[in-house]
Amino acid sequence: MLNIETARNWYPEIDPVHGFDHILRVYRMVEKLALAEGADLEIVQAAALLHDAQGSQTSGGEEGRLNHHHASSEFSRQILEAEGWPPDRIDAVQHCIRAHRFRDNTESPQTLEAKILFDADKLDVIGAIGVARTIAYAVVVNQPVYAEPSAHFIETGEKESEEPHSSYHEYLFKLTKIKDRLYTPTAQALATERHQFMAEYFSRLAAEERGDQ
Ligand SMILES: [Fe+2]
Ligand SMILES: [Fe+2]
Repeated sequence: MLNIETARNWYPEIDPVHGFDHILRVYRMVEKLALAEGADLEIVQAAALLHDAQGSQTSGGEEGRLNHHHASSEFSRQILEAEGWPPDRIDAVQHCIRAHRFRDNTESPQTLEAKILFDADKLDVIGAIGVARTIAYAVVVNQPVYAEPSAHFIETGEKESEEPHSSYHEYLFKLTKIKDRLYTPTAQALATERHQFMAEYFSRLAAEERGDQ
């Protein structure tokens, strides 16, 4: 049976970025977005449970993460075939999963269900949760929470040699852009508030680091 308890086996219990708690939050959010937007609930639920199942873990390194949307899509086909799902509905779930990765825009979300998975997954990198995950990730990969970004980084998003990729860099490079990348009005409204909270946190972090506050 494809349910929350089965999905628990595919993810580490403790992983600050892609542990099972991330899956549970995305699962709850796709339900909320699907109800508000009128999407197919079963498709988005399956997509949420399966979307990071293969290769997304922090311990798997950057290489595994690069392809985790394809690996998880393939895994989902095997799981859903075994469940007896019809091919067109398996295709729909696979499209959601392939299209969820922010840094790969070769396949963008085409269906409402894919837009909802994308939005729910991205809402989880902003707001209070986003701050916690971003800082936890920096700790795991041995990067500082804060480092003064170079003028070159602020202008181009590219670091100078020896410049660390701190949580603050991640905020400037990626997190601050998320709210403008979402598709559904329901998620956009949630993102506005989450963005404000996160922006206030990071500007305060920078101010305290500089001794201004
Ligand atoms: Fe992912
Ligand atoms: Fe995810």
